[in-house]
Amino acid sequence: MRAAIILAAGQGTRMQSAMPKVMHRIAGRPMINHLIAACEAVFERIIIVAGPGMPELQQAVQPHASVVQAERLGTGHAARMAAPLLEGFTGDVAVLYGDNPLISAATLERLVAARGSADLAMLAMRPSDPARYGRVVQSASGDVERIVEWADATEAERAIALCNAGVVCAAWPDLSRWLAGLRNDNRQGEFYLTDVLGAAHAEGRRNRAVEAPEAELRGINSRVELAAAEAEIQARLRLRAMLGGATLTLPETVCLAWDTRLGRDVVVEPHVVFAPGVTVEEGVQIRAFSHLEQCVIRKGAIIGPYARLRPGTDVGEAAHVGNFVELKAATMGAGAKANHLSYLGDVSIGAGSNIGAGTITCNYDGVNKHRTEIGAGAFIGSDTALVAPVRVGDRALVAAGSVVTQDVPDDALAIARGRQVNKPGRGFRGK
Ligand code: UD1
Ligand code: MG
Repeated sequence: MRAAIILAAGQGTRMQSAMPKVMHRIAGRPMINHLIAACEAVFERIIIVAGPGMPELQQAVQPHASVVQAERLGTGHAARMAAPLLEGFTGDVAVLYGDNPLISAATLERLVAARGSADLAMLAMRPSDPARYGRVVQSASGDVERIVEWADATEAERAIALCNAGVVCAAWPDLSRWLAGLRNDNRQGEFYLTDVLGAAHAEGRRNRAVEAPEAELRGINSRVELAAAEAEIQARLRLRAMLGGATLTLPETVCLAWDTRLGRDVVVEPHVVFAPGVTVEEGVQIRAFSHLEQCVIRKGAIIGPYARLRPGTDVGEAAHVGNFVELKAATMGAGAKANHLSYLGDVSIGAGSNIGAGTITCNYDGVNKHRTEIGAGAFIGSDTALVAPVRVGDRALVAAGSVVTQDVPDDALAIARGRQVNKPGRGFRGK
C-alpha cells in the first residue's frame, strides 16, 4: 500500500487571484486534478493538504481526503498535517506539490521504483534556468547530502545545476520521524520538507535522486507559467488524438479538454474549441470555428463551421449542424439537418427532419424553460418561431415565417402568419 500527500495550502500570491492557485484550470479542469489523476495510477491513498477557507478545493479533490493546514509554516509543516490520517501506516509515502500538474504517472513509477532500492527517493531536474529552485548537494559518490533552499544557499551552492523538483518518497515510519524532527532555523523561518534529505543522510540512510525532464517537473506560480503548462498539456492531448486516428488539420489551433474523446477518422478543422465532456464518434467532421461542450456527436455527423453545441446535446448519425446554429439540451435524430442560423434549445428533433434557416425554439417564458418536440421527417420552414411547450408531429410541414403556438398533428401543414395584403398604387414615392 502506497500513499501520496499533495501540498496545496498556499494561496499562490503570484497568480494575483481570488482563487486558490491549484484550482486554476488546465485543459478544462483544476490543475490539482491533473496531478491527482497521475497519482491515482500509482498510489492507493491520496491526502490533500488545503489551506483554511478553501472549501472549493476540498470539494474538487473528493473522494480523496483533505486536511487543513491552518497556518502556513512551510512545506515540511504542511506534510506533517497528514500524519493523523496515516497513523499506523507502514507503506511508502510520497509528498508532492499541488502546483506541479505536469508530472506523469510514468515518472512517479520511476520514483517509487527508486525508493525500492534506497531508503529515500526524490525527483530532481536540470532546468534551463535554475532560478530560485532548491539546489541538490551531492557527495562524491552521488548520494544526496542535503537540499539547500535558494534563500539559504551560498554562491557556490547556487551554481549547482541539479535542482529539487519537490517530490520525495520514503517509508512512512521513516518519513514521519524525519518530518517530526524538522526545525525552522533558516532564512525563511519555515519548516522545509527538503530538510528530510539531510536528516536521512545524517542517519546514514541511502537515497536516490531520480532525474526527469523540466517539462514535467516545472511548477506553476504565475499566469505566465499557467499558460506554458496549458500549452504543454494541449500538445500531449493533440498528440493522443492524432495517434488515436483523428485528423487535426492545424493541431496548434485546436483546444482540447482533458476528457475529449475523438473517434477514428474524425476530422477537426482549425480553431475548434472543446470544453469538457465531449464525445465524438467515428467519421465526424467538425468544421472550423466551432465550440463544443458536454455533448455527443454520433457517427458521420457534420458540425459547423461556426456551430455552438452546448451541454446536453446529442447529434444523431449523419446529422448536419451548420453555421451559426446553437444547440442546447437538444437531441437530433439520425440524418436531421439544421444548417443555418438557428437557436434550438430544450428540443428533440426526430430522424430526417429539416430545420429551416432562422428557426428559433422559444423555450423560455422569463420564468420557466419548456420543451419543443419535433417528430421524424418533419420540415420546419425558415424563420419559424416554435413557442414551447409545443409539439410538431411526424412528417408535419410548417410554413416559413410561422409563429407556432399550438401543436401540429402528424402529416399536417401549419401556417401561422399574417396574410399578405397588396395595395395597388400605395408604393413608395420618396420624399
Ligand atoms: C519548493 C522547495 C524547493 C523546490 C521547489 C520546486 C521547499 C522548502 N522548497 O520551493 O526546494 O525547488 O519547491 O518547485 O519545499 N505549501 C503548503 N504549506 C506551506 C507552504 C507551502 O501547503 O506552508 C504548498 C504550496 O501550496 C505549494 C507547495 O507547498 O503547492 C510548494 O510551496 P512553495 O512555496 O511554492 O515552495 P517553493 O518556494 O517553490
Ligand atoms: Mg513553488
